[in-house]
Amino acid sequence: MLHVSRRRLLGGAAALALGRPAFAQGAPLKVGLMLPFSGTYAALGENVAAAFELYLQERGGRLGGRTVTLVRLDDESDPAKAPQNVNRLLERDQVEVLVGTVHSGVVMALVQAARERNVLLIIPNAGNDAATRELCAPSIFRTSFTNWQPAYGMGKVLAAKGVKKAVWVTWDYAAGKESGEGFGDGLRAGGGELTQVLTLPFPETNFQPILAQLPGLGVEAVGSFFAGGSAVQFVKDYAASGLKEKLPLCGSGFLTEGVLKAQGAAAEGLQTALHYGDGLDNPKNIVFRAAFQQKTGRAADVYAVHGYDACQLLAIGLDASKGDARAIKPMAAAMEAAKIDSPRGAFSLSPSHNPVQTIYLREARGGENRVIGIAAEALADPGTGCKMG
Ligand code: PHB
Repeated sequence: MLHVSRRRLLGGAAALALGRPAFAQGAPLKVGLMLPFSGTYAALGENVAAAFELYLQERGGRLGGRTVTLVRLDDESDPAKAPQNVNRLLERDQVEVLVGTVHSGVVMALVQAARERNVLLIIPNAGNDAATRELCAPSIFRTSFTNWQPAYGMGKVLAAKGVKKAVWVTWDYAAGKESGEGFGDGLRAGGGELTQVLTLPFPETNFQPILAQLPGLGVEAVGSFFAGGSAVQFVKDYAASGLKEKLPLCGSGFLTEGVLKAQGAAAEGLQTALHYGDGLDNPKNIVFRAAFQQKTGRAADVYAVHGYDACQLLAIGLDASKGDARAIKPMAAAMEAAKIDSPRGAFSLSPSHNPVQTIYLREARGGENRVIGIAAEALADPGTGCKMG
């Protein structure tokens, strides 16, 4: 052991003299976790971070032969502060890898930095379609979804049930708009139609003006994207308005993900579509859920799965580059070829670095998002415009 560490020290001194990067000196690898730890998406950010840390712990705190230090930064889901926050991580904290974030507007600053500086970025939630469409890059990877994917699955299921007209209710930002497009495409694929998209600004929660319009629209169903604390309020307000029995509410699975207990009876029976759900009894998921519960005292959800898989993917990249986070080529080649052993079920990435994954149909029952079927099997984002290199 002594012999090995001496050699490492000598190697480090030589590397310093040659001006080689810090990793050659056995320095810890700094990974920036830019996530919301406050605001309506705070619980989402916490679960991403906790599960990322869980996998790192399972690896003894080391990836690619290097000790990893995590630098957490609260981005508050505020796009206006995002460029400055990314800069802080890269300049002040000198992180070598970026992991973030939850919000589709905020992620754009991370995408821009990853493209301009050729820094590895792993997106553990934000679904902004462009990140793996026209803004794709060799250094940008995602372990979550595009906003289009789950909503497409929901639209497809509704149309298969014979729904001809539906409306989408959401926040007026990329995640809301793009999930609405997915919902509309899914409906159309089965002969249905998206007649309207009703929005309010993020992260507002005065849903009453929208709820008041719904009965007069002549639709048979309401689809929706909301998430986090605000999804609790929307689902409760929807039930309280008396609409639930007349006009079935459904959505991207985020509507009831991680918030079902707080929604209580108001959520009972809601159908949603997502790449995760309760009752997926693959061995990886069983072990993961127990470990996450033990570490945090909370139940795992899709956000935890995204965080865990982000660290698994980073490990694959860094193992291939022997800990050199700047060596995008060997890291990207390994990550592109990987089959990630995810609690959601194993998945691989599309050529534009987005998961190809099964979208499940779930129904909220007794505090669980029970998987009751498959909305879309091995679904790839249909996006074009990705030109790598
Ligand atoms: C997003 O902004 O991309 C987003 C936020 C929360 C979710 C899903 C997507 O639950």
